[in-house]
Amino acid sequence: MRKLFVAGNWKMHGNKTFIKDLVTGLNAKSVSLNNVDVAVCPPAIYLDFVNKCLATDKIFLGAQNIAIEPEQGAFTGEISIAMVKDIGCSYVILGHSERRAIYGETNEQVADKTATALSANITPIVCVGETLAEREAGKLELVISTQLNTVINKVGIDAFANIVIAYEPVWAIGTGKTASSAQAQEVHAFIRSLLAQKNAEVAEKVIIQYGGSVKPNNAKELFAQPDIDGGLIGGASLNADDFIAICTAGV
Ligand code: PGA
Repeated sequence: MRKLFVAGNWKMHGNKTFIKDLVTGLNAKSVSLNNVDVAVCPPAIYLDFVNKCLATDKIFLGAQNIAIEPEQGAFTGEISIAMVKDIGCSYVILGHSERRAIYGETNEQVADKTATALSANITPIVCVGETLAEREAGKLELVISTQLNTVINKVGIDAFANIVIAYEPVWAIGTGKTASSAQAQEVHAFIRSLLAQKNAEVAEKVIIQYGGSVKPNNAKELFAQPDIDGGLIGGASLNADDFIAICTAGV
């Protein structure tokens, strides 16, 4: 039985006042978080602040990105995996479609960052997903399998015991267009079967989150699908009531 895992991706939102209010709301409602793993992923500059504001052991901390280089050094503007660990992170989101599309991150770079995160025992949340054009061109499985196989080839299938996958159809992110629960389930099952070809035991245990316009009113149905093990939440994670409602929707 896989435990649901819901993570909030705050993206480049917030300031100290907003974040203090948001975390105060999360603290107050965190008593209802049972049988679900929960993390929030603030902008890197606020990680330490959020860690200090969090007054619950039920919400973990994650970063949104890390440097590829595993060791510190002359990499101006970058943040190392050791630094996010030092500040209290347990997770890091990697290969989000915004990083792929806007900052040109390649499958190879996502794979290398996955290896970097694993080397520090930080759990990577590896994002995969197709654009609408790719889906309509019948390339969904090709795109997802290429994204995943690049990571598998780099770190090995057994490493997926310590990796979370987030399936985020690009056309559903921030658009209000959620994949239907059936559409999402189909891709989640495909992802699990792809891993199962290489290691059935790992595939059975791996957490596969769904992301893309998850809201309190659709989370329950999505999380009820057999291969959907929680969500990566953007917009709705910026509201404490909505985020906690989503976290508790599947339990
Ligand atoms: P959204 O974002 O929930 O705002 O669609 C999801 C994500 O990008 O992780």
